[in-house]
Amino acid sequence: MEEDGVKSWVMAVTAQTPTNIAVIKYWGKRDESLILPINDSISITLDPAHLCTTTSVAVSPSFTHDRMWLNGKEISLSGGRFQNCLRELRSRANDVEDVEKGVKIAKKDWDNMHVHIVSYNNFPTAAGLASSAAGLACLVFSLAKLMNVKEDHSTLSAIARQGSGSACRSLYGGFVKWIMGKEENGSDSIAVQLADEKHWDDLVIIIAVVSSRQKETSSTSGMRDTVETSALVEHRAKVVVPKRIIQMEEAIKNRDFPAFAALTCADSNQFHAVALDTCPPIFYMNDTSHRQVLFLIISRVEKWNRFEGTPQVAYTFDAGPNAVLISRDRKTAALLLQRLLFYFPPQSETDLNSYVIGDKTILQDAG
Ligand code: DP6
Repeated sequence: MEEDGVKSWVMAVTAQTPTNIAVIKYWGKRDESLILPINDSISITLDPAHLCTTTSVAVSPSFTHDRMWLNGKEISLSGGRFQNCLRELRSRANDVEDVEKGVKIAKKDWDNMHVHIVSYNNFPTAAGLASSAAGLACLVFSLAKLMNVKEDHSTLSAIARQGSGSACRSLYGGFVKWIMGKEENGSDSIAVQLADEKHWDDLVIIIAVVSSRQKETSSTSGMRDTVETSALVEHRAKVVVPKRIIQMEEAIKNRDFPAFAALTCADSNQFHAVALDTCPPIFYMNDTSHRQVLFLIISRVEKWNRFEGTPQVAYTFDAGPNAVLISRDRKTAALLLQRLLFYFPPQSETDLNSYVIGDKTILQDAG
């Protein structure tokens, strides 16, 4: 680092990371601090045009401590999760040089350098649209670039996992599996890409944003309560999900929509069943009193699938009331949207805000 004008430079990196929607859900940890799950999970990474986080990270000798702003508001970085990610990244940082600015940060200096992070979600935060997945994945990805961390995506996924479990899956596009792993230190609890975004590009995802309100029970505390109190969750993790993971991988490989839809809907239903089996029970699907809309969406999709003779649409709900609908192709998606707009017009008495249409995508760099 130069002695002259040492406080005058800033080095920055910006990246964009999409969110992901689980079709076989992660719900429950076996290790809270390392964020190790009790079962494997599989997700689809979405198109960043509609649901993504954009994060800029900067380093400067004038920064006196680490700071972060989320959607324009400063948030605390004192939590263990952020510190764990930062520690993992700092320990892998390398020399960084900006020839134009004439500055260099040596590998050994990263321990004493502070970062500022500015993050923006282009969708409602903490409303069950996997904002933490996109947010933490983007934070790890952009800091890794800034610090010239040379590790591959699977190592970065293990770091992002320590920020928020589902974040590890957002490091890849297309269809992604988070392997629960066996090691106590979590080294084998990583995300792998099952198929890239081009593999099954007929699928179209429509998200009915029923409420952009923050959920009442966070995923973190909800799944902790489930693991502690549900009698069903062990059966789910040990018996049901392992079989479903094999079947889902097969369905994705063969682009078998009926199998994919059956597994996706069944796993969403079971996730909400274990949430309900928690003490006290967790009602993600009706926590904003839009229960009727949600059940109508489910029953309409099921009626439609039965009417067509073969599934055309799958539904899944995360830890929030927003329906994620996956249609088998663009024609079906157009028809589905038409019907949704007819039966559930946005801004009606049901408080449905909007529909977001997403595709699968690859991880993109904003440059
Ligand atoms: C229902 O990844 O948000 O979306 O690891 O505690 O941060 P933490 O939880 P989080 O949980 C996501 C739960 C889910 C299912 C899923 O994405 O697999």
